[in-house]
Amino acid sequence: MILVREHLFVGEQRLDDADLRLTSPGIRLAQVKEELYSAYLYLSMSAYCEGINLPGFAHWMRLQFHEETNHALKLFDHVYNRGGKVILQAIEQPPVDFRSPVDMFQQALDHEKKVTGLINHLYGLAVKESDYAAQTMLQWFVSEQVEEEKNASQIWEQLKMVPEKGAALLMMDKHLGSRAASAE
Ligand SMILES: [Fe+2]
Ligand SMILES: [Fe+2]
Repeated sequence: MILVREHLFVGEQRLDDADLRLTSPGIRLAQVKEELYSAYLYLSMSAYCEGINLPGFAHWMRLQFHEETNHALKLFDHVYNRGGKVILQAIEQPPVDFRSPVDMFQQALDHEKKVTGLINHLYGLAVKESDYAAQTMLQWFVSEQVEEEKNASQIWEQLKMVPEKGAALLMMDKHLGSRAASAE
């Protein structure tokens, strides 16, 4: 079973990609942490939006937080469904302040691009290992990343057209506040 970004451990022993096929029992799944970090980052962005009185933006970011926790759980379940073991790791503190809503969405987009790279790397490992179950599971994440990058980029581009204060920003707030929760 493959399931780590780059550091996979059995006990305290770190393994290289080449050793992955030996690792079913002792997996430390770095991507679970990455998804939880994403959740934490979006919650921090939601807090920032609450603080500057943009409840619609805050709502959008809160839904994103829920999505990311679901991503972490999808990976978590995959590992346990296949007899592996998840060892949860410490999550870093996300940024707590942003220059503006535009700056915040630019950071969200940059972050999603980074996550896409991690998912692609995992997928590459699953192909190398002929791990078909992991490939199927990761295909969902590959499509999800296309969606995540599209959403963040679209809002970022729109926000760049909007002055930092004024009616247009409040209209964006209303629009983002109407986002409905999705199952994933
Ligand atoms: Fe995610
Ligand atoms: Fe999503």
